Amino acid sequence: MTTRQPVVAIDGPAGSGKSTVAQLLARRAGLQFISSGAMYRAVALTALREGTAAMSPERLAAIAAALPIRFTTDAAGTVRTWLGDEDVTDALRRTDVTEVAAVIAKIPAVRAHLVARQRAYGAEGGIVMEGRDIQTVVFPDAEIKVFLDASAEERATRRWKELRAAGSPESYATVLADVRARDRSDRERAVAPLHAAPDAITLNTDGLSIDAVVAKLQEIVEAWRTPR
Ligand code: C5P
Repeated sequence: MTTRQPVVAIDGPAGSGKSTVAQLLARRAGLQFISSGAMYRAVALTALREGTAAMSPERLAAIAAALPIRFTTDAAGTVRTWLGDEDVTDALRRTDVTEVAAVIAKIPAVRAHLVARQRAYGAEGGIVMEGRDIQTVVFPDAEIKVFLDASAEERATRRWKELRAAGSPESYATVLADVRARDRSDRERAVAPLHAAPDAITLNTDGLSIDAVVAKLQEIVEAWRTPR
């Protein structure tokens, strides 16, 4: 018999660094990593490829139900997302996919199918999953729940620096307005709005490096693993 490993449920606003941090935590703590956002993005990518006819709630729910998604880890330790035999990791980051994902994530039938799959991934424990409703809806009984927060200004600064490094001309004010709009959309939506579960550990990452955040999370996992 092997000891059960924890489900680590991590939520937070866009740009809080949760994807990077959750992936590193999973690798260092020997747990599997799943990005639930990649699943919403994969539904969006499939719908975009099928064209406008795919945008009815019924068709989107059918796409979510039959999504041929799987995750692998490459030699560098980066998680890759696949749809059938196609590596869609990079395609999922496209701006049009991001925009459509935010819309389809509001459809209850799409969420129901994806939530069922997310629960199946975590049924045996040993997983780090990040998203918006993981500690509240998907795994309300997760062994470890974390809400990773950061101020809108800090998240906009991080994003603006990334864009500038990539040669994009957006002003800081535009990026900050985008961050605030995405926050409103995530926090104020009717289904599965983003919020911290009452029993979650909230970590504010303002001014903290990625390594410092991962180290804090590793401490939390190790404390859980230490017999009381
Ligand atoms: O985290 P990421 O930006 O990849 O999420 C893509 C989209 O899916 C976002 O619009 C987000 O609000 C939505 N999402 C969600 N529930 C989750 C994860 C992501 O509604 N658990």
